[in-house]
Amino acid sequence: MTRIVVHPVQGPLRGSVPVPSDKSIGHRALLFGALADGVSRIRDFSRGEDNLSTAGALRTMGVQIDEVSPSEVHVHGRGLFGLSAPTRDLDCGNSGTTMRLLCGVLAAQPFDSTLVGDASLTKRPMNRIAVPLRRRGANIEGAPHPKKAGEITAPLRITGLAEGAHLTGLEFESPVSSAQVKSAVLLSGLYAHGPTYVKEPYVSRDHSERMLQAIGAPLRTMGPIVELDPAGWDGRLAPIDVDLPGDISAAAFLLVAGTIVEGSEVMVRFVGTNPTRTGILDMLRDMGAPAALEPLGDRAGEPIANLLVSSAELVGRLFGGETIARAIDEVPVLCALAARAKGTTTIRDAKELRVKESDRIATMAKVLRAFGVGCEEREDGLVIEGTQAPLRACRVDCEHDHRIAMTAAVLALLADGPTVIDGAEVIATSFPKFVATLRALGARVDVAE
Ligand code: S3P
Repeated sequence: MTRIVVHPVQGPLRGSVPVPSDKSIGHRALLFGALADGVSRIRDFSRGEDNLSTAGALRTMGVQIDEVSPSEVHVHGRGLFGLSAPTRDLDCGNSGTTMRLLCGVLAAQPFDSTLVGDASLTKRPMNRIAVPLRRRGANIEGAPHPKKAGEITAPLRITGLAEGAHLTGLEFESPVSSAQVKSAVLLSGLYAHGPTYVKEPYVSRDHSERMLQAIGAPLRTMGPIVELDPAGWDGRLAPIDVDLPGDISAAAFLLVAGTIVEGSEVMVRFVGTNPTRTGILDMLRDMGAPAALEPLGDRAGEPIANLLVSSAELVGRLFGGETIARAIDEVPVLCALAARAKGTTTIRDAKELRVKESDRIATMAKVLRAFGVGCEEREDGLVIEGTQAPLRACRVDCEHDHRIAMTAAVLALLADGPTVIDGAEVIATSFPKFVATLRALGARVDVAE
């Protein structure tokens, strides 16, 4: 177990730093590359553990993935029907994206597979993918959820389709905006006999749609509806050749730190600014801290930019609806902004946070209170009373949740003494160089095993 100790800042944070490449796009490049015909070249690949879980699971199904340099991988695609039956369980680690996206593909295979995960993933709900996949003919079972009657969780067991059986077309209206659900349904649709329609309340991140379209999948989007119709398609996906953009969800911690520490100026370079992901930039602006954006064109069909923030006086606001959908992973760090704002910040329509790597509403409420920040937990969000006083140094258990650990580190910069964060090894799931990056900006952080 790794413990980090974050010391209060002695001065402003300053500097220009990179972030790991986008985790969501990395998963998709690996998986879609494995299903393509030919060799995919993925540059600026993040060695975050979640992406490595996807690579590991694909290797278990016979996919050759060469690490040709520390940041470039080549995926030897096996075509849509070329995966081999796994000889052991597919270990998805902490990664919900790995598990849910793989299910979309495995549901259509002739072989059996079992997907397992860590303690956190083994509590996350899986009916959201099992239900639509079963409706189109998949055989997928899970373990009963330890807390929610009728819900299932990992391990998931998928029984291969019988000879001659196939998945059918599907019209699915998802009750939640979820790119993982949408992507699982679309991936299974690549194998279906008939069209797939997926609709969601607000458009969740659309990396799957962009990348699948770019490599030749018969897919089109109409607002919150995605249609995939394989009629007339030859079933071939072209290999991918991409420089992955930086992860805005990793950048968010640095942007918020640069906003709340007085006198700071922080630039985060080469960040993906896909509009389905930029809710945090809108939130910063609404609270009084506009991030300057220096556009740098496109990478992998995704817009990128340098992002620059400086410290600002913040005001509390109300956030909900589609802004939350476009910042679903940034709500924990939004709580750190809210802790420093004048007045009250209300976060609503964020019930999905209850089923992330931890119950992020409950965990953030605990963390905020530990730092002495007043807050009220609601079923679908939080109400946070900002304070200008130093926060209370404390000890935080991050509950296997990388974004809680990093949010606590950001809050700790403003505390009245050193803050201890236990279980901080989980940060490596998405941002292995987080501590080094904070240090490069001027923060003092100690690490103890
Ligand atoms: C992701 C989708 C989001 C997000 C997760 C990554 C993805 O989950 O929270 O970190 O890559 O598709 P949901 O789609 O379940 O909201």
